[in-house]
Amino acid sequence: MADTDFHILRFDELDSTSSYAVNNITSLPHNTVITADRQRAGRGRLGRTWVSDSPGNLYASVVIRPERDYRTLPLVNFTQFFSVIVADVLSGYGIGPVIKWPNDILVSGKKICGILSEVAFTGSVFNGIVVGIGLNIADNPSDKLDRVQETTSLFDQCRKTVSRKEVLDRILDRYLVSYGAFINDGFSSIYNSYMRYFPYLGEKITIINSNNNVIGIVRGITDSGELRVEDGSGTTHTITLGDMI
Ligand code: BTN
Repeated sequence: MADTDFHILRFDELDSTSSYAVNNITSLPHNTVITADRQRAGRGRLGRTWVSDSPGNLYASVVIRPERDYRTLPLVNFTQFFSVIVADVLSGYGIGPVIKWPNDILVSGKKICGILSEVAFTGSVFNGIVVGIGLNIADNPSDKLDRVQETTSLFDQCRKTVSRKEVLDRILDRYLVSYGAFINDGFSSIYNSYMRYFPYLGEKITIINSNNNVIGIVRGITDSGELRVEDGSGTTHTITLGDMI
């Protein structure tokens, strides 16, 4: 990774790297990366808390400010784009990650990484996208909070001490390589890679979301990254938001 490709801002502590990025986005150049050793108020998807008190873990947010009409961008797929990147990087450490739709990364059935993507507007002016990555590298936060999902860490899985910087550099390298195709072609540019990490075809699952829950068999992922689930009456639902359990 060339030093000039990214603007890295490192903090000892922040409320949230993603909040910092969203709040300051108009003064942050494209490909600014905010990292913190700790977050006082780390945020997860669907209003959850992300426990963020382990300096050995990665808390990072990438500011993406494409120079094109936002209506042509695959805004809803950025989390999936990064889930494939992180899964590729974790595979490089000899562990077998899977992606739980839409973007949780699990190893041995336990969550190792969460990704949160936010789109920043001022009124109707599009400012960019912030993708926050929380990756358990040295520490497993599982005993610290009411989690809906058991957690693990890279250290737990490969028993090697790995530096946050090395992992972040690998993530940013892969992001640079695949960014252009993703911006142009959206989810279809990552479809094959995504499916390699998605072992749930034919599995019975439940989707929890605020409108209604769906129980059924996973039939596939659409070429826009939505989940297709067939319920007991034979109806296939195309799910855009929710949690798969
Ligand atoms: C999830 O699985 O719910 C997503 C978790 C995302 C956590 C990361 S940590 C860095 C960035 N800052 C935050 O406040 N959240 C994201």
